[in-house]
Amino acid sequence: MKIEPASALRGHIAVPGDKSISHRAVLFGAIAEGETIVTGFGRSRDTEASIAAMRALGVTVHDDEVDVLRIEGVGLRGLCEPEGPIDCGNSGTTLRLLAGILAGQQGRFELTGDDSLRRRPVDRIAVPLAQMGARVESADDRPPLALEGGELRGIRYELPVASAQVKSCVLLAGLFAAGRTTVVEPLPTRDHTERMLEAAGVRVARQQRRVSVGPAEGLRLGEVRVPGDFSAAAPFIVAATLLPGSELTIHDVGLNPRRTGLLDVLARMGARVTVFNRHPSGGEPVGDLEVRAAELTATTVTAQEVPLMVDELPLFALAAACARGESRVEGAQELRVKETDRIETVATSLRALGIRIAASDDGLGVRGVPSRPEGGGMGSHGDHRIAMLGAVAGLVSRRGVDLQDPEAVAVSFPGFFELLDSVTQR
Ligand code: S3P
Repeated sequence: MKIEPASALRGHIAVPGDKSISHRAVLFGAIAEGETIVTGFGRSRDTEASIAAMRALGVTVHDDEVDVLRIEGVGLRGLCEPEGPIDCGNSGTTLRLLAGILAGQQGRFELTGDDSLRRRPVDRIAVPLAQMGARVESADDRPPLALEGGELRGIRYELPVASAQVKSCVLLAGLFAAGRTTVVEPLPTRDHTERMLEAAGVRVARQQRRVSVGPAEGLRLGEVRVPGDFSAAAPFIVAATLLPGSELTIHDVGLNPRRTGLLDVLARMGARVTVFNRHPSGGEPVGDLEVRAAELTATTVTAQEVPLMVDELPLFALAAACARGESRVEGAQELRVKETDRIETVATSLRALGIRIAASDDGLGVRGVPSRPEGGGMGSHGDHRIAMLGAVAGLVSRRGVDLQDPEAVAVSFPGFFELLDSVTQR
């Protein structure tokens, strides 16, 4: 796909429902009491993997409408042993959160996924689940993950990595365990699990980096309203910031402070993003964003900020490439175990477009120039975030970007290119 240079992004848009929250709505709705209605569901290849997994475990999910689901909950311990392995596709969230739930079910389960997911580590969940009393097996720290649920006991677990997926996995297993389960995070990560469990009636004790739950009697969700996905808004925010003359409004975006690190970082670079109409919705802060073009100056993203913008770091690197001065990302080794090794894929892709960028073990260094990068060719490597990075890079470049394998966007955002086109001024 050829992405031609653009002059501006202008107009009003809404992005699909938040992927993290959509996954949780499906998984928690499945083990809730009675029916859960999910509105604003973010339908994508990843969230469909969660629906398919729950169906394989015996849950009825009605999805006649694109963005509304009706889930018939089977109760906390009501999942059935499936006939074969559960295919989580490309979705790390499905695999890791589901493992926590299955640890508390009777039966034997096997979780696997596509080539990318089968290269991603699972010991980070296998270790705490085994400590809680589940029988967990994997070959060489990679899926497939075989799991036998049973009697679990609560543990106090210090996460070795700042990962909301691992935190969520342990907390979910904690709902089935005798005694309390406490997770201590090295740095605060997204807290959608905590918020949705609270909304479902679970008592969640929370401090800044410590979360605990006790054994649950049952979850009751009723309705989950999913806000727009900040990570899906991010390519539009960065493109509108970089293209002079842009004026773009993005409506109904989830603004959970543990997701919006990119806004803070862009603000100190000089970006002009205004948040208005801020209001709570279904336990999550939501609002509209108005983005105008701005000239940026370089900055450093610190290790503390990384979890707050972990999926936006590729886009940060592009913003940094167009900012005056040298920018850095520090303490981002987790990027190496995403859908691709994003330190490597970001550095090689952007370098191919004429950007001066260097990879280190745990981060990136970018030499920014306040003008359009040259452009050229790059591939998504099957990684949705890299595909969206390529699209934004094409718009802001001098001679466009030839993007290989653009359809990877469907993993999180199937209508991405159509929506982008609808606000692009050539
Ligand atoms: C997610 C957490 C993050 C993020 C992923 C979704 C979640 O991963 O990168 O896209 O829904 O909890 P980690 O928790 O592994 O950092």
